[in-house]
Amino acid sequence: MKILFIGDIVGKPGREAVKALLPGLKEEHSVDFVIANAENASGGSGITLKVSEELFSYGVDVLTSGDHIWKKKEIFELINQDERILRPVNYPPGAPGQGKRVFKVNSDKVGIINVNGRVFMDPLECPFKAALSAYEELSQETKIIIVDIHAEATSEKVALGWYLDGKASAVLGTHTHIQTADEKVLPRGTAYITDVGMCGPYDSVIGRKVDDVLTRFLTLVPVKFEVAEENIQLHAAVIDIDEKSGRARSIQRIQEKLNA
Ligand SMILES: [Fe+2]
Ligand SMILES: [Fe+2]
Repeated sequence: MKILFIGDIVGKPGREAVKALLPGLKEEHSVDFVIANAENASGGSGITLKVSEELFSYGVDVLTSGDHIWKKKEIFELINQDERILRPVNYPPGAPGQGKRVFKVNSDKVGIINVNGRVFMDPLECPFKAALSAYEELSQETKIIIVDIHAEATSEKVALGWYLDGKASAVLGTHTHIQTADEKVLPRGTAYITDVGMCGPYDSVIGRKVDDVLTRFLTLVPVKFEVAEENIQLHAAVIDIDEKSGRARSIQRIQEKLNA
């Protein structure tokens, strides 16, 4: 089973990259299932119905998210209606939507868990306990389980990778928008990377126009951050998983340029 996981899709440039590059990537890597973090897919923040439908039409199967999931109002209804959109599992009971779910893929099943970190982020419930209890539930149905750890701190992500080694098939980081070069299969068979990266404009500060972000840093005054436009790239990871054991065989980083 080959799973392609696309890092945070940022705005229209990110969606254009998915549209243009995903078909080729699917063919080249014989991809069975595509997961993408889409918390920034609509105008750089949040997800709308139109944008989710657009991404599904390009070949994405499931959308995960993170701290920006609630930025567009329509998500509050949408996330209860469309099972293909997940929010972090460690919101307290009562939050709309689901943070974990099992999806049918060919003759197998893939469980997906989306969890937020809480170091240098809003304090949700414990990501370790939440991810473990989600794992215990989903593992009743399948051995193939992918975790999107949406977090700021490298240490928190690395620790979760070790915590779930031998349980999850993959623990993949998102949120920083910068791909890390530490992809590996941990000793007990869990594929790991601290951050998959971003799908969006790279002549930017994590997807936003450089001047806007610099003004904010230099003046400390609130500034509207526009989505940048130049040097669009798709960053992702391909994970090859043994269907019987759920263990990862390999993880490969992907960086592709639009119009290269
Ligand atoms: Fe993001
Ligand atoms: Fe985020």
